[in-house]
Amino acid sequence: MTTQLPLVIVGGGAAGLAAALAAAPMPVLLLSRSEGGNGTASALAQGGIAAALDKSDSAAGHIEDTLVAGARHNNAGIVRWLCAQAPTAIDWLAEMGALFDQDESGHLQLGREGGHRAARIVHAGGDATGAEIIRAMRKRVLDDTRIERREGLVVDALLLRGGRVCGVRTRDTVGNVELIEASFVVLATGGIGAAFARTSNPPTADGSGLALGMCAGAAVRDLEFVQFHPTALDVPGGHCLPLITEALRGAGARLIDASGAPLMQGVHVLGDLAPRDVVARRVWQSQQEGGGVLLDTSAVTGDWEQRFPTVLAACLGQGIDPRCDPIPVTPAAHFHMGGLCTDLDGSTTIPGLYAVGEVACNGAHGANRLASNSLLEAVLCGQRLGRRLVRLPQAQPRGAFVWRKPGRSLAEAARRELRDLLWEAAGPVRDEATLCTALRRCIELAESGWQARLAQALLRAARGRRESLGAHYRSDEANARAQEVAGAQSG
Ligand code: SIN
Repeated sequence: MTTQLPLVIVGGGAAGLAAALAAAPMPVLLLSRSEGGNGTASALAQGGIAAALDKSDSAAGHIEDTLVAGARHNNAGIVRWLCAQAPTAIDWLAEMGALFDQDESGHLQLGREGGHRAARIVHAGGDATGAEIIRAMRKRVLDDTRIERREGLVVDALLLRGGRVCGVRTRDTVGNVELIEASFVVLATGGIGAAFARTSNPPTADGSGLALGMCAGAAVRDLEFVQFHPTALDVPGGHCLPLITEALRGAGARLIDASGAPLMQGVHVLGDLAPRDVVARRVWQSQQEGGGVLLDTSAVTGDWEQRFPTVLAACLGQGIDPRCDPIPVTPAAHFHMGGLCTDLDGSTTIPGLYAVGEVACNGAHGANRLASNSLLEAVLCGQRLGRRLVRLPQAQPRGAFVWRKPGRSLAEAARRELRDLLWEAAGPVRDEATLCTALRRCIELAESGWQARLAQALLRAARGRRESLGAHYRSDEANARAQEVAGAQSG
């Protein structure tokens, strides 16, 4: 009789927890870098979870807004499934014990965010939605004896046999390594925001899971599509910055330039609630022109401690009282639409290896994710993957064991240099010359650490897409077109 090997899930954010809970009839080993459920991007998510719940709203409206935000680069079938299932995700999270904000009659409060033509953002603790759903799901995981959790561990290699992923190697904070065989391995490691000089993500969102999948040979797609949130708190010299939720603009806050003029006036019909890429570029442009950008919150009513406690605490921590002072803001790398290529069931191109949440790219978000669709995707796709893996027979791979590992990490000074390079070259506004310069430097650094090879892949993808699409904005697009036309005429 063969013993049942555990399903190994790498990552303790919303996608990993949802997959673990859904798979739990089988033995699950949940590995995470951070401890106590903190340190994941999911736990930092403020705005909420999008679901068409209002009588005047519909899944069709949610689908259309998702496709428009994604510049129709999305997988439309996956978008239809996601938006139709969104209300079930809210019900399931409530069953898990998540306490969503309600009005006096006990109905869910629904907020507005950029790109949504309806109020459909379900939230918790005002602006602490991610923290609340992680709290609720973690409690269920802790209570479930079929799920073993190990925290404070980095997975630094994948074990393959006969071309199939069948285990991982972990390293703890003091360098002890352990080899763990698995029935299946799920990467739910989050995104790459921390690879940029300014990010709303935690430091662990450094792309290590993506690099791990890539070194095992898994295909990637859409790496050039990185979403920049227009409003992170502008802490001078800061890297991982507190988010200033878009829900504040949904509640009436307005972006202004250093002279107090409204920043978004005349830029887009939706004004301050224009799609995120449009707003982020406008803030970036204003910064390039030498002016700071502020979020004027004077129109926001109600009790900040109830409505926006996370933003309030972050601002007070920097000596800014958002109840009476405008908040200095900056764009920040926020979400990676690209990643390990998967289908809706989380299969990568390597047998035995699955990916879910931000590290994966199943096409749900297209070229630009719609606000509050990421927790939604993490929960629904995590559940779907967990349920599927329970039903799959355990494979019996044969042949020699091989390790695939991204290898050594760049030294801190080189990591800082790389973050600045990516911010300048692959930030909200991109052009060929800056991309090429950054790429040359990454090639020089490639042997020194996996981060440079990952950055290289992203820069190559950004160079390869010469037209602007969604969050990928090429300021030289017009020049490139003109050159092509001239080339075609002279050829
Ligand atoms: C926000 O609260 O502004 C972020 C929500 C999201 O990224 O979906």
